[in-house]
Amino acid sequence: MIVLGIETSCDETGIAIYHSERGLLSHVLHSQVALHADYGGVVPELASRDHIRYLSPLIRQALAAAEIQQNQLDGIAYTAGPGLIGALMSGASLGRSLAWSLGIPALEVHHMEGHLLAPMLESNPPDFPFIALLVSGGHTLLAQVEGIGRYEMLGQSLDDAAGEAFDKTAKLMGLGYPGGPALAKLATTGEAGRYRFPRPMTDRPGLDFSFSGLKTFALTTLQGLNPAASDYARQLADVAYAFEDAVVDTLVIKSERALRETGCNRLVIAGGVGANQRLRETLGKMVTKHGGELFYPRVEFCTDNGAMIAHVGCLRLLAGEHQPLTIAARARWPMDELQPPMMTTA
Ligand code: KG4
Ligand code: ZN
Repeated sequence: MIVLGIETSCDETGIAIYHSERGLLSHVLHSQVALHADYGGVVPELASRDHIRYLSPLIRQALAAAEIQQNQLDGIAYTAGPGLIGALMSGASLGRSLAWSLGIPALEVHHMEGHLLAPMLESNPPDFPFIALLVSGGHTLLAQVEGIGRYEMLGQSLDDAAGEAFDKTAKLMGLGYPGGPALAKLATTGEAGRYRFPRPMTDRPGLDFSFSGLKTFALTTLQGLNPAASDYARQLADVAYAFEDAVVDTLVIKSERALRETGCNRLVIAGGVGANQRLRETLGKMVTKHGGELFYPRVEFCTDNGAMIAHVGCLRLLAGEHQPLTIAARARWPMDELQPPMMTTA
């Protein structure tokens, strides 16, 4: 089975072609970072228009790279939520209509399920069951994954997501948009010891997260600095280090707790913050200590991409999932509403 995947939930147009036996045949991505940079964040209307502009050329490019003709496709999977509604609608309407014109099924994919199963795109995929730490710009959650669509939520963020905390703190530090990777880069030049941020909600039981206090802590810390000081740049790097350290530590403490509580020692890390090097290294050490294994997608499949959508679409279509011919997109879509493939609307 050959499936075309379309991702347009936010500020990246991602297209990919996934083959059920041969794996990923091609993937292309257009990032809107430059488009939104002047505004300091994503402007939804600009995002929708840009997706519309790039979707068709990117689909042609992905087909050419995979050496596949349109009429060889067996299905089309598109991100139906959660995300920006206009952006979602651009991919959904094109995906549905293209599938209709080709007489093949189209499938709505949950963006977070795409992230969650992205490590399975790699050569050493995790077996079910596993614990997933999903850390993106919009969500932070720990889930026990028993199979496709069988997700038990163990904990989630009660306020800001981990990526959001990175972005907001980066903005406070004048690092622009998107700030997460810039803050992580600055942190590599910082040193431990000068500042210490709190590890929110780690001193009580439970697996929920709360990251909004870290950005306030960062603000207070930054207000205490003197921009005229000769070592101001070093102080900023040390703040970045301390902030990243606190986020990483908190995520590691909760993930370790999840492994202990479930007795599972396979951990998967997915979502944009999963690209963070220090998080990968620290989680890796923790999982090894438990005699387990850590799985994560390559960096380009941690952040938004079409490959993860084509992949989930293929798995669900193969399992016999069907959906009605409506064009659907949902700005909000709780992940625990997902069902295993055979149980969805026939
Ligand atoms: O998964 P993703 O591409 O989009 C959502 O579904 O939200 O995640 C984007 C988030 C942003 O908040 C970005 O700042 C963060 O992932 N991010 C990082 C790194 N790379 C991306 N955060 C920390 N360190 C990184 N290296
Ligand atoms: Zn995402």
